[in-house]
Amino acid sequence: MPTIVFASPKGGAGKSTSAVVLATELALRGAQVVVIDADPNRPVSHWAKRPGKPETLAVLSEVTEATIIDEIEAAAARVPFVIVDLEGTASMTVAYAISRADLVIVPTQGSQLDAAEAAKAIRLIRQQEKAFGRRIPYAVLFTRTSAAIRPRTLQHIREEMAQNNVPAFETQMHEREAFRAIFSFGGALPGLNAGQVSGLDAAVKNARAFAAEVVGLLKATAARPKAEVVA
Ligand SMILES: Nc1ncnc2c1ncn2[C@@H]1O[C@H](COP(=O)(O)OP(=O)(O)OP(=O)(O)O)[C@@H](O)[C@H]1O
Ligand SMILES: [Mg+2]
Repeated sequence: MPTIVFASPKGGAGKSTSAVVLATELALRGAQVVVIDADPNRPVSHWAKRPGKPETLAVLSEVTEATIIDEIEAAAARVPFVIVDLEGTASMTVAYAISRADLVIVPTQGSQLDAAEAAKAIRLIRQQEKAFGRRIPYAVLFTRTSAAIRPRTLQHIREEMAQNNVPAFETQMHEREAFRAIFSFGGALPGLNAGQVSGLDAAVKNARAFAAEVVGLLKATAARPKAEVVA
């Protein structure tokens, strides 16, 4: 079943936050989800120790370069969604996880300097495509963007990506207090206290839109011929 990998060599791009938001959203819809916490800092495992983790969501820690491929394959055979959170560097673990992905999500903030880091992740995905002789679908996810304004720079980056045939999510993970709050209080967005966390409704809508777009992309890529091989 699909493996979704969050990858970007840029630290702080929003990988762990977006991974947990996606995982909890899918789990709240009743799906079994395994999150493989492949970052040695174990951010997702720390989140999972707090209360409120959906029952259908399991987090695997203790994953190493030597075990990541086996862990992904075993989890993918068991549950409908496997989500891998990676550290913000280039490593063998990152390359191995990408090689097993049905969808790589490349989070990036909306500046040109950040986009250059996203391009590094895309180059690594393309290398893995060549090494393994299969297409690895991916899409850039803009994170921490303003919900209120649409800066010209972000528009420009989006246009450049489109010209270079780099797919990007329509949905952006806007800068929202609620996305930070789940790491402080634990659990998922609906468990947060709207009196304590501002903009909760908007965050819930944002998370739903993101999850729906991920599921749509997975369906679209699964419908493509499997034998598609990279020259
Ligand atoms: N959509 C968002 N809204 C608000 N804050 C966010 C959002 N996404 C990420 N952040 C904040 O930005 C910081 C970095 O996010 P995160 O840890 O998810 O990035 P990362 O790519 O996993 O980093 P690393 O490479 O270190 O693993 C954190 O403080 C997090 O709370
Ligand atoms: Mg992280």
